[in-house]
Amino acid sequence: MCGIVGYVGESQAKEKVIDGLKRLEYRGYDSAGIALPINGQIEIRKHVGEIKNLEKIINDESYNAAVGIGHTRWATHGAPSDINAHPHGNQDGSIAIVHNGIIENYQEIREWLTREYGVEFKSETDSEVIAHLIGIYYDGDLLAAVNRAVEEMRGAYAVAAIAADEPDKIVAVRKDAPLVAGIGKGCNFIASDIPALLKYVREVYFIENNETVVLTKDDIVIYDENGKQVKRDVFHVSWDADAAEKEGYDHFMLKEIHEQPKGIGETLLRRLDENGEINLDGITMTKEDIENFNKVYIVACGTAYHAGLVGKMIIEKLAKIPVEIDVASEFRYRDPFVDDKTLFIAISQSGETLDTLAALREAKSKGARILSVVNVVGSSVARESDDVFYTWAGPEIAVASTKAYTTQLICMYLIALYMGRAKGAVDDAQYKFMLDELKALPEKVEAVLKQEDAIAALAKKYHHKEHIFFIGRGLDSGVSYEGSLKLKEISYIHSFAIAAGELKHGTIALMDTETLVIALATQDFLYEKMVSNIVEVRARGARIVGLAKEGKDEIEKVSDEVIYVPECADEVSPVLAVVPLQIFAYYVAKYRGCNIDKPKNLAKSVTVE
Ligand code: AGP
Repeated sequence: MCGIVGYVGESQAKEKVIDGLKRLEYRGYDSAGIALPINGQIEIRKHVGEIKNLEKIINDESYNAAVGIGHTRWATHGAPSDINAHPHGNQDGSIAIVHNGIIENYQEIREWLTREYGVEFKSETDSEVIAHLIGIYYDGDLLAAVNRAVEEMRGAYAVAAIAADEPDKIVAVRKDAPLVAGIGKGCNFIASDIPALLKYVREVYFIENNETVVLTKDDIVIYDENGKQVKRDVFHVSWDADAAEKEGYDHFMLKEIHEQPKGIGETLLRRLDENGEINLDGITMTKEDIENFNKVYIVACGTAYHAGLVGKMIIEKLAKIPVEIDVASEFRYRDPFVDDKTLFIAISQSGETLDTLAALREAKSKGARILSVVNVVGSSVARESDDVFYTWAGPEIAVASTKAYTTQLICMYLIALYMGRAKGAVDDAQYKFMLDELKALPEKVEAVLKQEDAIAALAKKYHHKEHIFFIGRGLDSGVSYEGSLKLKEISYIHSFAIAAGELKHGTIALMDTETLVIALATQDFLYEKMVSNIVEVRARGARIVGLAKEGKDEIEKVSDEVIYVPECADEVSPVLAVVPLQIFAYYVAKYRGCNIDKPKNLAKSVTVE
């Protein structure tokens, strides 16, 4: 997904900008570009493909300046190409901009600029209109021109602009797309995401919606939408840039799979006090609020949605409150029944997923109380929520989400337990039992990780399959969806997940001797029913990889292979059951020679609709 980096300082802007763009590569992009003010003109250089293509065309010494803006683009309007890459310039080359987001009324603006000002557009992008708008309003004051331009724009944007006549500054503005200013010494930065800046700065300002920021080498000045200067607290970034390195693993995904015991432990630790009670530091939701809710709505996308599927069952079971769940892209367009008695839970690793953010705003506008489960501190979802349960997974770089999912599950358990306790639905014994089960998870996940070689061997055996099904009942059905998504997104194998009891109503027609079925059977009270479902598909010739808890070995009689996870309470088994599925997907993709950390067509953070 698109990334913005800008630098203003003493010299060598291009090095800092390129370095920042590389830090954002993991988000996915199809082209990159940079603009520098040189000798009274803006010189833009951009190239389709990887940043190294761009580096080849900017390495001449004469291409340098103390100010620069850069961008990695992920195509929305117009195909990936040199012309459509950012930055975009205005007609006489005196202004350049980079943009994240979508300008919804760009066609309208485009026609108007062509008709009234004879503007000739070079690209097919929505973003180019921004450069021309700033250009026509520019009269020696870039800040004023940017402010005037945004009055014409509808949609979502983070924009950074430079002007040839003011070669000592960057002006940036945001609405519904993240933007952060980094505070350096004798230099300052602007970026769409903190990782882009971490090599150089630790202190940042978050730019809020409808704010404009002017950066010079010695100053960062933020203005609200009325042009009034805003005082903003400095945010200190404590996480380490090295956390984003692979640390010896072949891929970020494998590293992140192995980081799960730590992430789970950390997420628990942050919410348990010395007496083992769930602490709600920073959470404003009271016991009375909880008693007042008559419904919970969970909304998210992709893997986060799958965490919500488990969350729904757990909250209903422990807190005894009805829970609805929806994917964010559907929720916002169907006038959902939400009011001030609804607790709306948004789950998002990045906290920047536009669909989730828009759903959150929809729920908020209807009076719902917003609780989010987010991994990125200070992200848009976090900042727009009433309360936040952070997942402490650390930065997740691989596009395929792994440690975010398991830590999201931990938050769902904690929320369910806390609500259950507040409503009197969970007694002391059940509360203690569940907390003990949760605390035992890091060690049990470690035990599952020790089976990596055996699971890799299974992946080697089955990596040539073209159709792989995942089945399960109860909580296992939720985990099946996640296992299937993991496999398809990184290995490109066609995969399908279905509640095992539903097979006989149609999907079983697809089973034959070529089919591999991964059958999850970790729910004790559904175990026998699950074994029957396995027998049904096996009778159609499918090969079966069973997944069960240690000690439940009857499954061996109906499976070709079995993966075991440690004994645990049914409620927490999703945290263990998903790990072999992540490892399996990883190795299948590896044996198929896929680009594991950056699968085709996917981006880490989906900030467009
Ligand atoms: C996960 O493997 C996916 N790449 C994707 O489904 C992701 O979970 C989804 O886009 C939601 O992202 P978020 O958690 O950052 O909101």
